[in-house]
Formats: sequence, C-alpha cells, structure tokens
Amino acid sequence: MMPINNAPFPALRMRRMRRDEFSRRLMREHQLTTDDLIYPLFIMEGQQQRVAIPSMPNQYRLSIDELLKEAEQLVQLKIPAIALFPVITPEKKSLNAAEAYNADGLVQRAVRRLKQAFPQLGIITDVALDPYTTHGQDGLIDDSGYVLNDETTSVLIQQALSHAEAGADVVAPSDMMDGRIGEIRYALEAAEFKHTRIMAYSAKYASSFYGPFRDAVGSAGALGKGNKHTYQMDVANSDEALREVALDLQEGADMVMVKPGMPYLDIVYRVKTELRVPTFVYQVSGEYAMLKAAAQNGWLDEQAVMLESLIACKRAGADGILTYFAKQAALYLQQK
Ligand code: PBG
Repeated sequence: MMPINNAPFPALRMRRMRRDEFSRRLMREHQLTTDDLIYPLFIMEGQQQRVAIPSMPNQYRLSIDELLKEAEQLVQLKIPAIALFPVITPEKKSLNAAEAYNADGLVQRAVRRLKQAFPQLGIITDVALDPYTTHGQDGLIDDSGYVLNDETTSVLIQQALSHAEAGADVVAPSDMMDGRIGEIRYALEAAEFKHTRIMAYSAKYASSFYGPFRDAVGSAGALGKGNKHTYQMDVANSDEALREVALDLQEGADMVMVKPGMPYLDIVYRVKTELRVPTFVYQVSGEYAMLKAAAQNGWLDEQAVMLESLIACKRAGADGILTYFAKQAALYLQQK
C-alpha cells in the first residue's frame, strides 16, 4: 500500500465509521420519514369499485366509498397528504373540458367527502385538463391541434376555484401553461381563498415515464400518437427548469415540483440549492412500474430499491416526494 504522510498505514480509514451499525447511524446525513410522503390516488365513479391498474401493480382506481376506506388507513399511517387523479368517463369528455369545473364533478365530490371525514388529511388536486378533453391534451386546442395557452388558463382558473370551493387544501397545476400560477393565485385571492396553497408542477418534463399513468386515467387512448412537447419541457434542458421555477415563485407558488423523479434528481438538487424553497419531486408511474416489474421478476429486492430510490430524492434536496410507494414506505417506517 502507498503510504501517505510517510505513514505505514492509510492516513484516513473511511471504513472505520462504516464498520458498525451504531456509527453508520450516527453519521447518516438524510432520513426518510412518513412526513416526506404524498400518496397519489386514482378515483372513479361508481360504488365498491377497486379496479387494479395492470401497469401499476398494487395501485387501484377507487370509487369514492373505497377512497374513504383507503384514506382512513392513510390517516392512521400518518401520511400527511394525498393527491387525487380522476378517471373521467368518456361521455363527460369534451373539446372545452367543461366537466373539469363541474361543482358536482368526481374530484369535487371526492374532496368534499374527504374533508368532511378526515379534516387533518391534506388534499392536493391536479389542475389540468387531460382527463377531461376528448384528445387527451392538457388544454384546449386550435384546428391544427396546438394547445392554446390563454384560453386553457381561463378554464384552469375555473377548475382551481371549483377545487378550492370543494375544500382542497392544495391545488397543483400540472399543465405547464405560461402564466397560469399568477392567474390562479389572483383568482383564489379575489374569491377569498386565502389559505389555498399552490404546488406548481414547475419543471415538468415531456417524459416517456408517464405511460402507466395515462393508462390509469384513460387518457392514453385519447392522446394516441400525440405528444406534449409544445408545453412540457425538453428532457435535455436544465437551466430552463430554473427559469420555470423562478417564474412560478414570482407568480405566487407556495411549493414547486420537479417531475419525473429519479432521472431528474440533478434538477431537484439545483432547484433546492439555488432557490431554497419548498421543493417536491414526483416519482412517476413509469418509475414505479419499472421497479415493481423488476421486483416481480425477482431481479431487484423491492423493499431495498424502494427505500433507496426515496432516500436518493431526499439526498438531492426534496422536501417531499409524491410516490406510489407512499403507503408501502409508511408501513415499513411504522414497523421499524
Ligand atoms: C396530467 C398529469 C400527468 C401526470 C400527472 N398529471 C401525465 C401527463 O402529463 O401526461 C403523470 C404522473 C405519473 O406518471 O405518475 N396533467
């Protein structure tokens, strides 16, 4: 061995601290706790519906009665918040996405029931039109199929207001229209919803990791070969993500998000270190599907890769993680 400092032993033995569990615990820099977890849930019409999603093992589309049963368990597990995503029946989809702001729509009813039964559970709603449009795009389109920015924003405002009215604690615009955070904030204030938080999907990439989600909400078929490249971000960019985040903060976002998660932790790190604001990351459906599939084949140790992927998000700087593993991780943390 090459002596350093002319000593006949390594100047520093990094392995000393790694030798025992007690010293590994003492110098561990990051912790995953249940406080970090947000559970995305898919909801549908009907009663006693619990429909498995093939590309997302162990995730279900739930009717509102089943959602309430699920929420009870999540409250017991002390999961701070859930994010709702609706499966909208085809006859309610349209070109103008009017169902998105129906005061008696699926999301609005689910939020009301949840807040009544579990006032302490944080409810986050998705503000975007893709479940409601016949073509599966996140906004209204012109004759060429281009998603119209300002026309879409007008609908998003009404959607966000209807969620706030129903009692949503956090509205989360995931549409990537320009200026929508400012417009939604203004509308919320004007309607006296002073406490409604905005979690902005600020750096949302045009990723191929959303595939299973689009199956789950049934927008994949509608979207067909279409893509979202004219509004979601180019996966090759990172400075642009910082501009998006800065803009959303200026416009009144309380929290920002980077999406997807694992392949984009460099973005999470930059957002957190450069802007120092509440930063969230979405470990999306494709990431979940990938880990689950490998685990089901016996190729990966499911619990180990789940925990590793979540602590990696924390290490990158995330204050919280939207993950389909939220319940599984919370169960593990409770047993530990
Ligand atoms: C839609 C929306 C998507 C996701 C969350 N909200 C899909 C998309 O943009 O096509 C993806 C979540 C996931 O893949 O888990 N506005």
